[in-house]
Amino acid sequence: MANRVFNFNPGPSTLPLEVLEIVKGELLDYLGSGMSIMESSHRSPEFDEVNNQAMALAKEIMGLGDDYKVLFIGGGASSQFALIPMNFLPEGKTGAYVDTGTWSTKAIKEAQIIGKMHLAGSSKDDGYMFIPKQADLDIPGDAAYLHITTNNTIKGTQYQYIPETGGLPLIADMSSDICSRQFDYTKFDMFYAGAQKNLGPSGVVMVVIKDSLLEKCKDGNPTMFDYRTHAAKNSLFNTPPAFGIYMVKLILEWIKKQGGLAGVEKINQQKKDLIYGMIDKHPDYFKGPVAKDSRSWMNITLRLPSEDLEKKFIAEGKAAGLVGLKGHRSVGGVRVSIYNALPLEGAKAVADFMEAFKKAN
Ligand SMILES: Cc1ncc(COP(=O)(O)O)c(C=O)c1O
Repeated sequence: MANRVFNFNPGPSTLPLEVLEIVKGELLDYLGSGMSIMESSHRSPEFDEVNNQAMALAKEIMGLGDDYKVLFIGGGASSQFALIPMNFLPEGKTGAYVDTGTWSTKAIKEAQIIGKMHLAGSSKDDGYMFIPKQADLDIPGDAAYLHITTNNTIKGTQYQYIPETGGLPLIADMSSDICSRQFDYTKFDMFYAGAQKNLGPSGVVMVVIKDSLLEKCKDGNPTMFDYRTHAAKNSLFNTPPAFGIYMVKLILEWIKKQGGLAGVEKINQQKKDLIYGMIDKHPDYFKGPVAKDSRSWMNITLRLPSEDLEKKFIAEGKAAGLVGLKGHRSVGGVRVSIYNALPLEGAKAVADFMEAFKKAN
């Protein structure tokens, strides 16, 4: 198989080869229909089945009951930052938010445009290098909801606990860690993820909402911006991102074949242990800036002794078939994104490369 590299891009990111092979095989003639699924009507029986299967698989894999709706919509995770307060933040109420870096900061900005925001916790003063602990959260009892970002793609931090809200709806941006580990998803009243990291290609967002929260949607929003529109029509109110949904379905089938969330978690744990293991072995050379109890399993950030060495590391990594190791432009350094589809061999290759690079430099 030609020219496949280990792809550590933070999103869009690597997809399982097995899934890409299926897509390739079905591209010209989807199940004897004589056309690709991209060319099918979104009202066709073929697409209807894909859509329904994707929704059912998402629920099955995440252990969700019929009291949850799975929606596939466009607009990116970023649109949800505005849609959440538009739908769930009534006048006179406050939306509580924890600020753990860029993406939660953006969600907070949108909430402030729509209504009142309460900062329930923040790690800003420490450069967002940790996840605030439950005891440090200040959640007003009458808030409309609490919003968190479970994994911070840029800084490389991740919640290792699910906040208790005292009965308030818990809403989470899970764009960069959805379906990557076992989690009690039923603790969340809503969560959402741009597909382009763990679920498929960019262009489709998975939004999961519990019926009891959906009932609270505010009236008066434009039709497309009311979550109830999409829930009532099985995400087929307008033309959905159909090809993306088809790929999400294939990825969910792939996750099931890996042994579900228990299966992917096992591999993800080994992957992150290999790389953090190397950081901890050479702490004077590879500096992991993130607090150990907040380390992300998906995006591992590190610094080398100098920016020149970081540039060299990224360039030589690329030449060795390890692509996409550059840290986000806002923080610099190195970032190793190891989403579900990145095979264990890829993490081993990075760990070996780190060891060899240190020896040589
Ligand atoms: C945690 C998180 N939330 C939101 C976004 C924004 O997603 P989108 O580009 O789909 O709007 C990203 C993108 O990387 C992300 O990592």
